[in-house]
Amino acid sequence: MSYSHLDLAAAFAGRFGNEPDGLWSAPGRVNVIGEHTDYNDGFVLPFAIQHSTTIAVAVRTNRIVRVASTFAPDDDPVTADLDALEEGSVEGWAAYPLGVLWALEQSGHRCPGMDLLVDSSVPVGAGLSSSAALECAVAIAANELSEAGVSRRELAAIGQLAENRMVGAPTGIMDQSASLLGEAGQAVFLDCRSGDSRLVPLDLKGAGLELMVIDTRVSHSHSTGGYAARRRSCERGAEMMGVAALRDLSVGDLAEGAGVLDEETFRRVRHVVTENARVEDAVQLLGAKGPVALGPLLVASHASMRDDFEISCPELDTAVEVSLDTGALGARMTGGGFGGSAIVLASVDDMPAIRAAVVRAFSVAGFRAPVIFSVLPSAGAGRVV
Ligand code: GLA
Repeated sequence: MSYSHLDLAAAFAGRFGNEPDGLWSAPGRVNVIGEHTDYNDGFVLPFAIQHSTTIAVAVRTNRIVRVASTFAPDDDPVTADLDALEEGSVEGWAAYPLGVLWALEQSGHRCPGMDLLVDSSVPVGAGLSSSAALECAVAIAANELSEAGVSRRELAAIGQLAENRMVGAPTGIMDQSASLLGEAGQAVFLDCRSGDSRLVPLDLKGAGLELMVIDTRVSHSHSTGGYAARRRSCERGAEMMGVAALRDLSVGDLAEGAGVLDEETFRRVRHVVTENARVEDAVQLLGAKGPVALGPLLVASHASMRDDFEISCPELDTAVEVSLDTGALGARMTGGGFGGSAIVLASVDDMPAIRAAVVRAFSVAGFRAPVIFSVLPSAGAGRVV
């Protein structure tokens, strides 16, 4: 859906019979560059987008939590007792909000029971971190309502813990960090080993550029299959190379890797090692020349994910190829892969032709029609009312 704040408060009252204590909101993200590097202790460069998840919340006087969503207005709220929550005990979408409360308590912060109504404009399954947006909205609301005083950096870790242990998806820290640390006009450069982050100005408009998302509508799920398999390959590669994480290898170490690793593991490792280098190059180039210089790095990143990490799909490849053929400066898949979205960097003037060419190519190939929209670096999570 995407209710106005007033309508969401009214919908909350209709659902639970009382006014909410407040509304909190957290954005989805796109990742400019640095894919599958976060769980390898590496670097990422995402930004928060203007699409967000908003929750209306009211504290209860007991330890019962009820969660409902504007997406399923006829469903009864999912109800849970905070004292009975344990790892893997919640099924379906409610595992995200309840998982965050569980993770906060696991980290020593006692939460009150609460009623919670969720609304979102982040497309689900599009690789734009709708799950992190939900986790971070709950994290920031619960942090305030329980007066826990947890930092944004720690809240990102709490969101990740919820996703890893309650949902069962072995994802890294990038998405929650983007949602909590993002700011308008800025990308977030994050070192996933130290947790240090720095905002990097990303003035697309000033450079006459636009960043467009092409949602292929091929859905993915990170709690199953490919994502976990890639993560295991990376861990195996690091072990075989005798390092704590692939972050510890540089491009110069790859020649040795070719002798030590089997062919497939080598390609997985090569993606992560070269991708980390590309993130550092991107940050440096953004400072020196601005976003117009990012194109070749985006193109190289996509090729590496398609050929070495093997997480692209025909729809993503088509979106990228057609965009580049129609004048884009750069394009790549963004997020975990196996579907989801591509991002395209191009001049504002070239975008209409690129958009039309992609729509046409999808139709000719017999793919589902893509959903295409522009994104801008936007504010991170916070209280809205
Ligand atoms: C998903 C995960 C992130 C990250 C990306 C790939 O979005 O949630 O932690 O691993 O995939 O870069």
